[in-house]
Amino acid sequence: MRRLRRTDPIRAMVRETHLEPGALILPLFLCPGEGVRREIASMPGVCNLSVDEAVKEVEAAAALGVGGVLLFGVPDAETKDEEASGAWSDDGIVQRGLRTLRQSSAAKRMLLIADVCLCEYTSHGHCGVVRETPEGFEVENDTSVVLLAKTAVSLAKAGADIVAPSDMMDGRVAVMRGVLDHEGLEQTPILSYAAKFDSSFYGPFREAADSTPQFGDRRGYQMDGANLREAMREIALDLGEGADMILMKPALPYLDVIRAARERFDVPIGAYQVSGEYSMLKAAAGKGWIDGDRAMMESLLSIRRAGAGFIVTYFAQEAARRLG
Ligand code: PBG
Repeated sequence: MRRLRRTDPIRAMVRETHLEPGALILPLFLCPGEGVRREIASMPGVCNLSVDEAVKEVEAAAALGVGGVLLFGVPDAETKDEEASGAWSDDGIVQRGLRTLRQSSAAKRMLLIADVCLCEYTSHGHCGVVRETPEGFEVENDTSVVLLAKTAVSLAKAGADIVAPSDMMDGRVAVMRGVLDHEGLEQTPILSYAAKFDSSFYGPFREAADSTPQFGDRRGYQMDGANLREAMREIALDLGEGADMILMKPALPYLDVIRAARERFDVPIGAYQVSGEYSMLKAAAGKGWIDGDRAMMESLLSIRRAGAGFIVTYFAQEAARRLG
């Protein structure tokens, strides 16, 4: 075996898995204001950006060949309410961001993907509409789905190339597809976070997006990390409802699920290397305990090897620079 491992050229010749910048998608957190670039304490190098700063970020990412950006909103706390009106309002933070980004030259070279969820906009931080029950509370499915579909339409109208529902309500893809088509948005693809596990690795994101649930947790809608077969059912359902592509998340702790999905479904599959995965590598590298650059590339390569065609990652620019 060692004959084929001796030099860089021979290793390159026999390499089975490759990464390219175009397969990387950079998440961005849009916030109100101007000239705002606020670093997230638990995610070194990742910032909340006002729209003008986001334009610069998108241009820099496009210059590196990054394939697209995934947009999240971080609205002012006082605008949050029970119906998440900031998610579907015409002048919501992501809608405003999209209209501006659409005008930038970078937007012609890369995809503007809009995350569709309510948790950044609800006063309680859950991904749907909450109703009190004798046992505590319930995240209502069907009323949430109506608002999510409304959100998807509003984001597509504002200029999103792709809408990406991450809420994990049942039946949302079907309703979203129907409403998008009805509104003349039949060319807007749905990238469904079909298999999204309830994960401790979302912690830093919730700090970034200010979306930690004020009570309870997300186990009533996000998947149990123990269940691979159930993930396959989720994917099959979303595809049946009209999802064009699926996203798996988190990535590194669920590589087996990505592999199983790749073998079973013939649609484009992406994986989301989530905030905690990023923070973990950054923290260890910051302490000098691992080589941060190599660990970054190795983790991305392993996600690709598991079967993800594209990867949503906070490392998108850093990795693209290395792949240069
Ligand atoms: C919204 C959403 C979350 C993430 C993406 N979309 C948070 C959550 O479900 O709590 C997590 C992304 C990350 O951790 O980087 N529902």
